[in-house]
Amino acid sequence: MEKINVAIYPGSFDPLTLGHMDVIKRAASMCSTLLVGVLNNKEKSPLFSIDERVKILEEATKDMAGVRVSSFDGLLVHFAKASGAHVIIRGLRAITDFDYELQIAQTNRILSNGEIDTVFLATSLEFAYLSSSSVREIASFGGDISKCVLPFVAEQIYAKYE
Ligand code: PNS
Repeated sequence: MEKINVAIYPGSFDPLTLGHMDVIKRAASMCSTLLVGVLNNKEKSPLFSIDERVKILEEATKDMAGVRVSSFDGLLVHFAKASGAHVIIRGLRAITDFDYELQIAQTNRILSNGEIDTVFLATSLEFAYLSSSSVREIASFGGDISKCVLPFVAEQIYAKYE
C-alpha cells in the first residue's frame, strides 16, 4: 500500500489515553509523517496545560518513527495546510461518535475547498469504551486508570488530583 505523505491526528488529548495510542500506532504505519496536533483551546480549562499535553505525547511517541507532535490553535484546516497535510485521522469508537465526526469532517472538507479529507480508523474493541473525560472522572475519585492510560501518564493524572 502506498503511504500517505503527511497526515494529522488532531485532538485535545486531555489526557492521552491508550485508545489514542492505538490510533497513533496504526495511523503511523500508514503515513510517512504523522503529525499529532494538540488543540490549544483557550476557552476550556483543561486538566493539563498545552505544554504538559505536548510533552506527554512527545514522551509517549519518542520511539515511533515518523511521529511528530505539535500544538495548534484556530482552525484545524489552517494547521493542516501549513503542515502540508491533506489527510486528517480520527478514531471512531461507536455510532455515538459518528454524527459529530461526520459533521466535522464535512465542515473541514468544505473549508479546505475539498483539499483535506478525513480518514476514520475504527478504534480497537478493547478501547471502545474509553474517553479522556471518563479517565478524568475515575482518577478524580481515586479509581484505577491503569487499563486506560500509560503508567507515566497515570502518575501525572493522579498528581493533579492530590
Ligand atoms: O479530542 P477532541 O476534543 O474530540 O478533538 C476535537 C478537535 C480538536 C478535532 C476539534 O475540536 C477541532 O478540530 N478543533 C479546531 C477548530 C476547528 O477547526 N473547527 C472547525 C471544525 S467544526
